[in-house]
Amino acid sequence: MYQIYPRSFQDSDGDGVGDLRGVLARVDHLAELGVHAVWLSPFYPSPLADGGYDISDHTGVDPRLGTPADVRALADALHARGMALLLDLVPCHTSIEHPWFREHPERYVWADAPPNNWRAAFGGPAWSRDGRTGRWYLHSFFPEQPDLDWRRPDVVEAMQGVVRFWLGEGVDGFRVDALDRIAKHPDLIDDPSRTAPFPFPQPPDVAALDQRNSSHWVAGLAEPLEALRSAAGGRFLVGEVYRPTAELGPYLEHLDSAFVFELMFAPWRADAVAAVVERGARLARPSWMLSNHDFSRIGSRIGAHQQRAAAVLLLTLPGTAFIYQGDEIGMLDGPGGDPPEDRHGRDGARHPMQWSADPAGGFTTGTPWLPASDPSMRSVAGQRGHPASVLELYRALIRLRSTLKGGLETVTADPGGLLVYRRGDATVALNLGDGERRADVPGRVVVATAPGVDPARLGPGQGVVACAPG
Ligand code: GLC
Repeated sequence: MYQIYPRSFQDSDGDGVGDLRGVLARVDHLAELGVHAVWLSPFYPSPLADGGYDISDHTGVDPRLGTPADVRALADALHARGMALLLDLVPCHTSIEHPWFREHPERYVWADAPPNNWRAAFGGPAWSRDGRTGRWYLHSFFPEQPDLDWRRPDVVEAMQGVVRFWLGEGVDGFRVDALDRIAKHPDLIDDPSRTAPFPFPQPPDVAALDQRNSSHWVAGLAEPLEALRSAAGGRFLVGEVYRPTAELGPYLEHLDSAFVFELMFAPWRADAVAAVVERGARLARPSWMLSNHDFSRIGSRIGAHQQRAAAVLLLTLPGTAFIYQGDEIGMLDGPGGDPPEDRHGRDGARHPMQWSADPAGGFTTGTPWLPASDPSMRSVAGQRGHPASVLELYRALIRLRSTLKGGLETVTADPGGLLVYRRGDATVALNLGDGERRADVPGRVVVATAPGVDPARLGPGQGVVACAPG
């Protein structure tokens, strides 16, 4: 699967903002890469308080990005090349500028005064005062994103309508946003202080509390998830649940898959990575990712010299793998906007895709909304057809992936660097450390992080996949 952040993928009309026709113009890149499906981050009408995740019309298209007809055309173009289209479903909140907030305020969560200590995911209180009514509303993210009340049948029905609408437009499934926020403690009781640290990044005021009441209310999960499932029928639903792997089970009872965030935040050591992938692989239907639009890119987190090993890891794990646009050419975090576009500091991972070495990276003929990062260093055109490129490594891995069978069996997880695991007949050996390592892999090397890499002398960030005959 391939994640597209539409504002940063390809601009087709020179306004500096990526759009749906731009995506359509790049479908051949996706086909060449060999991915099976595309997940499009939001393109809906939005005041852009949260990069498009603050939606003012869930069944519309932001006119700067295109029209509903463009969505249909994109679905058709992908289908014609054997690929599927997943949209981003954002069911737990709307933009504060969504007409419902004024016309149907009862669909949100209100109180006369802040009833508890809940914090918003980006920091600060989760309750804000509405200037017009003087009442307080709940927002799990920015104050511009009031939470919907999923205990209300009209909310459930409206979101089911959104799902059905897009399926009717030819869409094949959804990545479902922030699902750990769909069910909260009905009595709105305080979150307790944390006794053990939360394993993923959080602002300090959020990290101080255990979000067991403000989110991930397991007793209330089945109904909303079943409602989404029933609207989606058999279509693919992958949940964004910002929780440790051990807590994903109740979501997977209703979804096809859920992201394993632990991989994103695992220390880059063979023992730590092995523990995370073993836990994730036990889920049966995990979705893996190394980067997305919310966090620093993999190459910037672990070092550019390790990003090829990371690509081999991602694409040899059992389950579903998501590639974030630009990772296939080894893009690193950019400097961000000046002033920043995103209040939560996520510009770095959202710089425009780099198609060519020209100053705007072939992204736009105008002025890009976030500056081009380093297109002269890495671009699709600069790498296509070069066997030693990151792009050709991704293509080779995607081709290999469909032949990998069976579960994951760890062979070596040496804290000094060497990670070796098996998938059926295939053995994967990766050097995640700093020194040279020797790996004994049975069979013939079918993919290597670069031409000529020798398993007997794996340098830092190098790796191979070998297949035993038969
Ligand atoms: C998800 C999105 C993120 C957004 C948040 C609120 O985590 O990935 O970009 O800010 O939900 O919608």
